[in-house]
Amino acid sequence: VPSALTAKKEALLVRAMTTDDLDAVQAIEQSVQFHPWRPAHFANCLKTGNLALVVEAPAASVPSQTSAPHAIVAYAIVAVGGREADLLNIAVTPASQRQGIASRLLEYLVAQITGRADTLFLEVRVSNSTAIHLYDKLGFNQVGVRPNYYPARSGREDALILARTLS
Ligand SMILES: CC(C)(COP(=O)(O)OP(=O)(O)OC[C@H]1O[C@@H](n2cnc3c(N)ncnc32)[C@H](O)[C@@H]1OP(=O)(O)O)[C@@H](O)C(=O)NCCC(=O)NCCS
Repeated sequence: VPSALTAKKEALLVRAMTTDDLDAVQAIEQSVQFHPWRPAHFANCLKTGNLALVVEAPAASVPSQTSAPHAIVAYAIVAVGGREADLLNIAVTPASQRQGIASRLLEYLVAQITGRADTLFLEVRVSNSTAIHLYDKLGFNQVGVRPNYYPARSGREDALILARTLS
């Protein structure tokens, strides 16, 4: 059932991602990620029963969107199992960043999985200071490092492992 997320400027809608959303999701992924997921990766995530959410905004409020009444501005995918949850992906389209959308989507996700899992883990590039700020603000703590985890512009880059206790 779709729910309302109240953002600073406008009402946003959060709902489950479907295969019909994958083109829009992939377009955002290509525009914001250094090493984007392939389309098949998103499709597999939907098949394997992950919690996959999209955030929609009125299209008129999002530059360069189509004639559809709503436009996807953000998405997140979480795997839940064995009392642990892993945030596999989260992104916000460039025109809608810095408006609190990722913060609200993450808090919504946390509310959805609290009770099903005890801890939410994620990995983030050490160079991704924007995302690290976001996670720090939302109460994640560093619990480890995966050396050379990500491909980088030259060579490889470490991942920080962050966790938030769900209660
Ligand atoms: C990381 C990302 C999801 C944040 O989305 P967002 O909707 O812009 O985030 P919010 O508006 O909720 O911002 C939350 C906090 O993040 C930090 N932040 C967001 N954008 C920032 C920027 N450009 N510079 C510094 N800090 C920033 C701030 O602490 C901000 O809180 P504040 O506005 O109260 O200062 C978005 O930048 C994105 O899609 N990046 C590319 C994909 C990515 O890196 N995903 C995470 C992979 S682990």
